[in-house]
Amino acid sequence: MREVILAKSAGFCFGVQRAVDTVYSKCGCENVYTYGPIIHNEEVVKDLEQKGVHVINNADELPESSTVIIRSHGVSRKVYDELADRSSEVIDATCPFVLKIHKIVREESSKGSQIVIIGNEKHPEVEGITGWSISDTYVVDTKEKAENLSLDKNRTVCIVSQTTFNYNKFKELVEIISEKGYNIIIRNTICNATEERQTEAREIAKRADAMIVIGGSSSSNTRKLYEICKKECDDTFYIQTMNDLDLKSLGRAECIGITAGASTPNNIIEEVYTNVREFCRDVRGIN
Ligand code: F3S
Repeated sequence: MREVILAKSAGFCFGVQRAVDTVYSKCGCENVYTYGPIIHNEEVVKDLEQKGVHVINNADELPESSTVIIRSHGVSRKVYDELADRSSEVIDATCPFVLKIHKIVREESSKGSQIVIIGNEKHPEVEGITGWSISDTYVVDTKEKAENLSLDKNRTVCIVSQTTFNYNKFKELVEIISEKGYNIIIRNTICNATEERQTEAREIAKRADAMIVIGGSSSSNTRKLYEICKKECDDTFYIQTMNDLDLKSLGRAECIGITAGASTPNNIIEEVYTNVREFCRDVRGIN
């Protein structure tokens, strides 16, 4: 009998749900903006545009008497101050787990520690974290960068992580840095939501003959989920919505797994799940 497994951890995490709810609660108000797209999902961003919530990418774009919402990734202190200067209201929907990293970086850097962020330097969350440090700060995401890292041995090194970074890779990079003999404080700030989603996706992909990963094309956590699943299951498909999925490509897979990134809305996940289940029933009918 064919089986379709939907990951329990698929879709919005707590922080994203909170940020999206915050924005939807402001729909219908005048002059509401989000600083950057509220989540990495084009469908949701389009829907919000239609409801009058616009995206700005720079504080200069804010008109007077506007409300601006900071997304779950958070922003640097400089950006926060610029937004506060220009708008009449700043609503900070930064995920509390990201705020915790800002706090660590702010406090440790003010004590003079060197800061190492394990993450992708181009990711807005990492740019935001970097912007709370007042000391020298380094971003590391590869073995090579970890090996080449040369820090002051007389000062403490504080290592934090981007919340969505892969845990095994984090461990590997921290090990390389630890071998250099620095006085190190390691704060594993990877969010549980990410770990749980990745672990569950891996377990399902091991059992599945075909695996579907749903998420926006620019969502880094969805891409990581895809990589994890692809390692375990050759027939892994990365889709943004049901429109991208050719059901025939699932062939006669006996077990089909479905998971989704942290910024994938429930209605999109439900639509894929329903269609895949119906497809499996129909194929069984033909057999
Ligand atoms: Fe927050 Fe974790 Fe989501 S850090 S935004 S709950 S992935």
